[in-house]
Amino acid sequence: MAFQSIFFLFVSLISVTSPIQAISNNQYQFFNLMKASLSGNALSDWDATGGRSYCNFTGVSCNSRGYVEVVDISGWSISGRFPSGICSYLPGLRVLRLGDNTLHGDFLHSIVNCSFLEELNLSFLYATGTYPDFSPMKSLRILDVSYNHFTGEFPMSVTNLSNLEVLNFNENDHLDSWQLPENISRLTKLKRMILTTCVLYGPIPASIGNMTSLVDLELSGNFLSGHIPAELGSLKNLQQLELYYNYHLSGYIPEEFGNLTELVDLDISVNKLTGKIPESICRLPKLEVLQLYNNSLTGEIPSAIASSKTLRILSLYDNFLTGEVPRDLGRLSAIVVVDLSENRLSGPLPTDVCRGGKLLYFLVLNNMFSGVLPDSYAKCKSLLRFRLSHNRLEGSIPEGLLGLPRVSIIDLSYNNFSGPISNTIGTARNLSELFVQSNKISGVVPPEISRAVNLVKIDFSSNLLYGPIPSEIGYLKKLNLLILQGNKLNSSIPKSLSLLRSLNVLDLSNNLLTGSIPESLCELLPNSINFSNNLLSGPIPLSLIKGGLVESFSGNPGLCVPVYVDSSDQSFPVCPRIYNRKRLNSIWAIGISVAVLTVGALLFLKRQFSKDRAVMQHDETMSSSFISYDVKSFHRISFDQREILAALIDKNIVGHGGSGIVYKIELSSGEVVAVKRLWSGKSKDSASEDQLLLDKELKAEVGTLGSVRHNNIVKLYCYFSSLNCSLLIYEYMPNGNLWDALHSGRVHLNWPTRHQIALEEGKTLPLLSLQEPTVIWPRNMRTHLKQQPSVMSTVLAWC
Ligand SMILES: *[C@@H]1O[C@H](CO)[C@@H](O)[C@H](O)[C@H]1NC(C)=O
Ligand SMILES: *[C@@H]1O[C@H](CO)[C@@H](O)[C@H](O)[C@H]1NC(C)=O
Ligand SMILES: *[C@@H]1O[C@H](CO)[C@@H](O)[C@H](O)[C@H]1NC(C)=O
Ligand SMILES: *[C@@H]1O[C@H](CO)[C@@H](O)[C@H](O)[C@H]1NC(C)=O
Ligand SMILES: *[C@@H]1O[C@H](CO)[C@@H](O)[C@H](O)[C@H]1NC(C)=O
Ligand SMILES: *[C@@H]1O[C@H](CO)[C@@H](O)[C@H](O)[C@H]1NC(C)=O
Ligand SMILES: *[C@@H]1O[C@H](CO)[C@@H](O)[C@H](O)[C@H]1NC(C)=O
Ligand SMILES: *[C@@H]1O[C@H](CO)[C@@H](O)[C@H](O)[C@H]1NC(C)=O
Ligand SMILES: *[C@@H]1O[C@H](CO)[C@@H](O)[C@H](O)[C@H]1NC(C)=O
Ligand SMILES: *[C@@H]1O[C@H](CO)[C@@H](O)[C@H](O)[C@H]1NC(C)=O
Ligand SMILES: *[C@@H]1O[C@H](CO)[C@@H](O)[C@H](O)[C@H]1NC(C)=O
Ligand SMILES: *[C@@H]1O[C@H](CO)[C@@H](O)[C@H](O)[C@H]1NC(C)=O
Repeated sequence: MAFQSIFFLFVSLISVTSPIQAISNNQYQFFNLMKASLSGNALSDWDATGGRSYCNFTGVSCNSRGYVEVVDISGWSISGRFPSGICSYLPGLRVLRLGDNTLHGDFLHSIVNCSFLEELNLSFLYATGTYPDFSPMKSLRILDVSYNHFTGEFPMSVTNLSNLEVLNFNENDHLDSWQLPENISRLTKLKRMILTTCVLYGPIPASIGNMTSLVDLELSGNFLSGHIPAELGSLKNLQQLELYYNYHLSGYIPEEFGNLTELVDLDISVNKLTGKIPESICRLPKLEVLQLYNNSLTGEIPSAIASSKTLRILSLYDNFLTGEVPRDLGRLSAIVVVDLSENRLSGPLPTDVCRGGKLLYFLVLNNMFSGVLPDSYAKCKSLLRFRLSHNRLEGSIPEGLLGLPRVSIIDLSYNNFSGPISNTIGTARNLSELFVQSNKISGVVPPEISRAVNLVKIDFSSNLLYGPIPSEIGYLKKLNLLILQGNKLNSSIPKSLSLLRSLNVLDLSNNLLTGSIPESLCELLPNSINFSNNLLSGPIPLSLIKGGLVESFSGNPGLCVPVYVDSSDQSFPVCPRIYNRKRLNSIWAIGISVAVLTVGALLFLKRQFSKDRAVMQHDETMSSSFISYDVKSFHRISFDQREILAALIDKNIVGHGGSGIVYKIELSSGEVVAVKRLWSGKSKDSASEDQLLLDKELKAEVGTLGSVRHNNIVKLYCYFSSLNCSLLIYEYMPNGNLWDALHSGRVHLNWPTRHQIALEEGKTLPLLSLQEPTVIWPRNMRTHLKQQPSVMSTVLAWC
């Protein structure tokens, strides 16, 4: 540094007379200023010793006359005060990219003096303050100020920047609400207008139809209302039109959109559109993505959509669509996603959707589809999710469907399917959730199911299955939920169930199961068990009595309770003496449990009286791991991580699940969130391979599907993860949980929560164990996804 300054002095001394030298000195001085006021490792490269010119610095380039033209430090993790007056030092500056750093200072107000600047990128600075008057920046072609926290008025001065080609104000949700002015159409060179999640309200001006240079028009995530102007149909170069999540856009989809012959991606989801889907848009020659979900559209899906050669994503869920789905949908294009759930569609399922070999999601829940399931689906090797629940489908499940190699969720529940579960399920290497409940499936549960080792949830309830529960089911190490309720299973309960260490929910009720309840099941501590209405006999194992509810065992005339249990309710007879062989052991067990309970109660009381200390200790442990948190956000709401971490205290606990603890947290903003804290290993060393795997899977799911949300599904706001634990931040649902939402009418309360509810009568039902994370499909704000180019990332679907 000392040497540089001397060098600089020396240079300035000998150069007073040369204008070029003067500029060079000035330019050099700015880099010195930057080095002096900013910190970050990357800047150490900016070292002018040995006569190295700043023109050779990383991120800097000069023109042939030695003027600095480009300064690009985006993503360098630099922090500090950015020097003001950059253009009085760098008069030739054309490109300034500062994004993804932590800069402060009022430099922005001086940047407007850069009248030659063509590109200004300040994205992801989360900067505060107000926007300047941009009017002097006549040369600006690219203005990207996305992801900032500027307050005050939207800078209408941008309407003066007649050379603008890119305008990006995405995620500027701290601004005052504002309306798009008619005169925005003065920006006739604008190619990309991205005004998403930036507090826009009111109508979309018809004058935008004059901005025929537009290739990308994005106005989603705002509060726009009124009709969509038909004039937008004149945007002959438009490839992408995003108007989703405005909630209030109403009226028809303009027929004129059929003139947008370059259009690739159209999304007007989550609005109040009515009327039919215009046939004209289904004929657009380049259309790949058509998303109109969550509106009030009526009529049929135009058959023209089946003639598309380009369609990849069709998401029309949650409308009032009727009639049949075009029979040959997918015959001519390689469809990736079909989501037609929650409509009133009827008739047979299309047979050719998988013909292109790319289909990942096929979701048609809650409709009135009938007929049999076409055999073609059983050959759809690409499928990841296949969900048909709540329809009127019948016939047998095509051989091979359950065994598809990649499929992760199959949901055939609430239909009229019959026939057996094929043993080909053994080849389903990636199957995690299998829902077949409420059908007429018969036959035995094939032992081959145990080869589908990734199964986490199985629900076969309310069918006609008989025979044994295959003991091989004990190999399903990840199994979290096993519901066999309401069949005609007529074996004994296999001991191997006790190998299912992840089991949270076990419901074997309403079958014809015989024999005794294996003592070894006590080693499992599921949140919910149910053995009621069977033909079980013998003693109810002690620890199950302790935690269980009478209803979990009722309707088994042969069950009894050991003599030493003071059963104040007379639901079960006392066991005859022959069952009391293990009495001595059991008395020990009671003694220990009483001791444990007492200690537990004492600890609980102690905690109540030393909350402050607990908070302090908690703070310590959390802040040490804070640095390593990996954060993903799926929603425009951004949370203060520290506030959330600080609130992970016992008093906020509302439930314990198999995979972690659920907290209810009231943020200072007034917002209430539910935070699920998942265990992900105590340390790197002790984290088991399974846990690491779970964590990896979770990340993958959160990553790609962080994007998906549906009406009935808890909103995942964001996800923090560190070595020690992962935090999932959800919308707080006071009246139910995810399980509740997915399977309305059936709630599984875990025991601590039951206890809590019993203690605090009248309290609203808290958000309960969210089961394991793989079932949580959060909602996407697509703004998030824009950063991820993959196809999956544009998926918006029911899961
Ligand atoms: C800049 O780097 C190039 C090669 O990368 C080198 O030839 C040139 O001498 C350097 N100029 C200065 C002034 O350091
Ligand atoms: C602005 O910079 C960010 C990185 O900081 C980049 O992702 C984005 O594409 C840039 N915007 C434009 C319009 O080039
Ligand atoms: C910007 O330019 C104006 C006049 O051209 C000048 O008064 C002002 O000081 C400049 N601001 C900065 C920060 O350079
Ligand atoms: C646009 O520029 C003109 C002068 O060129 C100025 O009078 C006007 O106030 C500017 N408009 C805005 C909104 O800044
Ligand atoms: C465009 O209209 C807005 C709102 O009426 C106004 O504030 C702005 O000055 C106008 N811009 C120009 C360049 O006239
Ligand atoms: C721009 O659009 C408006 C409203 O659609 C229209 O009245 C006006 O004539 C158009 N201006 C030009 C220059 O095309
Ligand atoms: C645009 O579409 C409408 C209705 O589909 C049609 O009447 C009109 O002629 C089209 N305009 C152009 C310029 O193609
Ligand atoms: C299943 O079929 C029976 C007649 O066999 C019918 O009464 C019932 O409504 C059907 N259920 C569904 C969900 O379609
Ligand atoms: C297994 O399922 C997951 C989750 O849906 C998916 O990300 C992954 O790609 C699948 N694996 C294979 C081999 O298809
Ligand atoms: C179970 O039920 C099936 C079908 O009703 C019957 O064939 C079988 O013998 C029964 N098995 C036992 C062990 O009772
Ligand atoms: C157990 O299952 C029976 C029959 O399915 C049901 O009526 C009862 O409510 C369930 N009990 C518990 C505790 O879930
Ligand atoms: C879908 O629309 C309904 C009714 O307008 C609304 O309550 C719901 O929140 C919307 N769903 C989503 C995902 O926004």
